[in-house]
Amino acid sequence: MDNEIVTKFNDLKNKKLDIDITRGKPHASQLDLSNELLTMDVNPLSGSIDLRNYGEPLGIEDARRLGSDLLSAPYENIITGEQSSLLLTYQMILAHYLFGNNIAWKDLENPKVICPVPGFDRHFRMLEDFGIEMLTVPIIEDGVDLDSLKLLLESNENVMGLLCVPRHSNPSGEVYSDNNLKEIFNICKNYSDNFLFVFDNAYLVHDFLPTKNQKPISVIAQEEDVVDMVVEVTSFSKVTFGGGGLSFMAAGGKNLSLIKRIRASMVICPDKINQKRHTQFFKNADDIKKHMEKHADLIRPQFEIAYKALDILTNDIGTYSKPTGGYFITFISIQPIASRIVELCKEAGVLITPAGATFPYGIDPNDNVLRLAPTFVDHNELKEAMDVFVTAIQIAHAEAIG
Ligand SMILES: Cc1ncc(COP(=O)(O)O)c(C=O)c1O
Repeated sequence: MDNEIVTKFNDLKNKKLDIDITRGKPHASQLDLSNELLTMDVNPLSGSIDLRNYGEPLGIEDARRLGSDLLSAPYENIITGEQSSLLLTYQMILAHYLFGNNIAWKDLENPKVICPVPGFDRHFRMLEDFGIEMLTVPIIEDGVDLDSLKLLLESNENVMGLLCVPRHSNPSGEVYSDNNLKEIFNICKNYSDNFLFVFDNAYLVHDFLPTKNQKPISVIAQEEDVVDMVVEVTSFSKVTFGGGGLSFMAAGGKNLSLIKRIRASMVICPDKINQKRHTQFFKNADDIKKHMEKHADLIRPQFEIAYKALDILTNDIGTYSKPTGGYFITFISIQPIASRIVELCKEAGVLITPAGATFPYGIDPNDNVLRLAPTFVDHNELKEAMDVFVTAIQIAHAEAIG
């Protein structure tokens, strides 16, 4: 092995770093963009509605209209929930598990859901909670690999749905094309007219570079006549405050009835004061867009720092994604060394997302995909973390090729 790299790694270890780039969290400067929410006056009366009291289980009208504008979906199909879109997704899966549209998933033999990979670890964890088998399809440049999707459906029974992140996919950053979405709808609806499409649009408004055009999901769903099979969620977790924003769901037909039914057993109403505060802060989707441009200006340099470090790696060692939005960079090594890289980073005081986390059951079949989350730390810390990451890759690669 190249002695220079080993010496460099030892020097990095001696710095006794303690840097965590495991999760895609906004930097404090991004949170400052929404500080007005902390001191804003809220009129507790909204027309005849007292926001301080119970009521409006689907959300207040202003918030549902904002969700409708954001998701380009009919107002009647919008629920404004609490701060977490993941919670809305969980509630929807739970409703299908307990009640289902025609049959409860719990009463089926080995129900399955399709998960494009690499994907979001918390989606996998949620499906694992229910014992729902996860079938994987690769994500390619413009969305899901359609041939693999067809094959999977041909060879499996009781595939109940698909769960994906269609814009700036977590972690690899792809933006699904309109045609890919259209094909997904058609392939899956031909398989079953009871199919559930869940689109987690967590990064709907999170472009930091020009991004290819994408028709709203609800518009494509309408064109393909699948509105009643489609559920879309998004939130303000990375727009205003994590844990202090709003979440939205667009759902039609039986899915809308199911989410209303399950939520009626769980929450009497969401936080309407916070909904009002947010609708005073953002009057419409255009206001959100302008706000997100300020986020983009803060996020872009973080990614550029990461790229500068990764650029020294040659293609025979690995490649990395250059997304136009979202929160992650995906590194793919040529050798099966992802676990080893994580271990070496840890030795040098840098925590990155565990190897395997971007695959169901935590198992990356090739042990070569890693997720980097460059937004949360300061520039200097990020430079140091990236230095460690790249050096760890060089060492692990050299070990693997012997
Ligand atoms: C794809 C995806 N969905 C959902 C979430 C969480 O969203 P929320 O805070 O609205 O539950 C994240 C956060 O990292 C995410 O990456």
